Amino acid sequence: EDVDATGKFVFPGFIDTHIHSRDPGPTYKEDFTHSTQAAAAGGITTVFEMPNTNPPVNNAANFDRQHAHLEAQASVDFALWGICLGHLNEMDIAPLDDKGVAAFKFFWGYAVHEETYQLMYNYKPGMEKVIPPFHDGEVYKMMQNVAGTGRVFAVHAENNDLIQTLTGEVEARGGTTYDDLIAGRPQLAEVLTVQAGIDMARATGVRLHILHVSAGESLKRIRAAQNEGLPITVETCPHYLFLAAEDYDTIGAKMKVYPPVKTAADREEIWQHVANGTISHICSDHAPHTEEEKDGSLWEIPAGMCGVETLAPLVLNAASEGKISLNDVARLLAENPARLFGVDDRKGTLVPGTDADLTIVDMLKEAPIQRENLHSKSKVTAYDGFDVKGWPVMTIVRGNTVMQDGDLRETGRGQLVTPGNKGATVYGL
Ligand code: DOR
Ligand code: ZN
Ligand code: ZN
Repeated sequence: EDVDATGKFVFPGFIDTHIHSRDPGPTYKEDFTHSTQAAAAGGITTVFEMPNTNPPVNNAANFDRQHAHLEAQASVDFALWGICLGHLNEMDIAPLDDKGVAAFKFFWGYAVHEETYQLMYNYKPGMEKVIPPFHDGEVYKMMQNVAGTGRVFAVHAENNDLIQTLTGEVEARGGTTYDDLIAGRPQLAEVLTVQAGIDMARATGVRLHILHVSAGESLKRIRAAQNEGLPITVETCPHYLFLAAEDYDTIGAKMKVYPPVKTAADREEIWQHVANGTISHICSDHAPHTEEEKDGSLWEIPAGMCGVETLAPLVLNAASEGKISLNDVARLLAENPARLFGVDDRKGTLVPGTDADLTIVDMLKEAPIQRENLHSKSKVTAYDGFDVKGWPVMTIVRGNTVMQDGDLRETGRGQLVTPGNKGATVYGL
């Protein structure tokens, strides 16, 4: 089929390495059919699905099960994250590596609330919470274990002890504001875990990746570690680049995410680390909850919102504004994610886009993001009405056009990708 890209820009297919489709799990919020159609609509050719499903991707059998379950619904290609559950699935790390997980995820210090237990550990309401947060020794062992595979060990970095203590204090004084949210999950919670991660990665030799960084101080530590020569990488998300705490007054509680969006000063520091290469790539942390669930007090409602469909438009708009170049867009949305995880290794090459995964972009197209146009099941977004210049107008997955001028075509043909990366780094390449 001929494709007319006159006046457009042709990019290697954009990759979103961080989405939660919650499938199987609470699919009333989102499912893989919807999230991959949203991806296709937003110019994303490959997504990496997070492993905190029910059942989680914690062993080889569940990997196969998830592969079949998602491939039946996929409109774009996808890779699977594996989950690290310490001694609970220590013996499953090597088999998951053999299956071809993209990387291993560890929810380090993530608030242990009932729903998380239910999703990650088959916890049933009323059951005693039998799995306490992991001690440092066990985290260290997990890192040693994953280091043996050569794959990336990626962490949601927020210190649980600190959060529980400080959240309790804020609750006791009846906090309700966005400043209270940050006081309960301060940047220190992220920094403490990032620093512990760096020090343990140095000792174990694991390829550490810090997920969704939100605080400027975390990036200082990560940059220093990279300068030491440690192969540590870090990602951020649009909400940390385009929002700041003060936006809560206009956007409201739907911008609640974990880690929480921090100050405007943090946002500017994160931009500096996008420019200087500390940050390898930008991904969405697509984590939808329903409109009803997100409508409530800041303390009660869940964290997370839609993101996979707005990732590329927001980053392209930043290029239109001159914050980054179009080459930076290719680096942040395609080249670095592909290199970091070895997405194109299955073809014996590290060059993204070489199997005709392409995103074609119209940098002159101007239109606002509109919630009602989103393809996710839930349409909770912080960017409703946000004016964007620079839109994906065609998404091509292995030569199949899955989106053209905003319309979905040839859906349901996505396939599993098993990244072949063994320890490649982005920093310093
Ligand atoms: O805001 C968030 N929502 N952050 C996470 O780390 C998890 C996610 C979710 O699954 O809802
Ligand atoms: Zn997370
Ligand atoms: Zn996440």
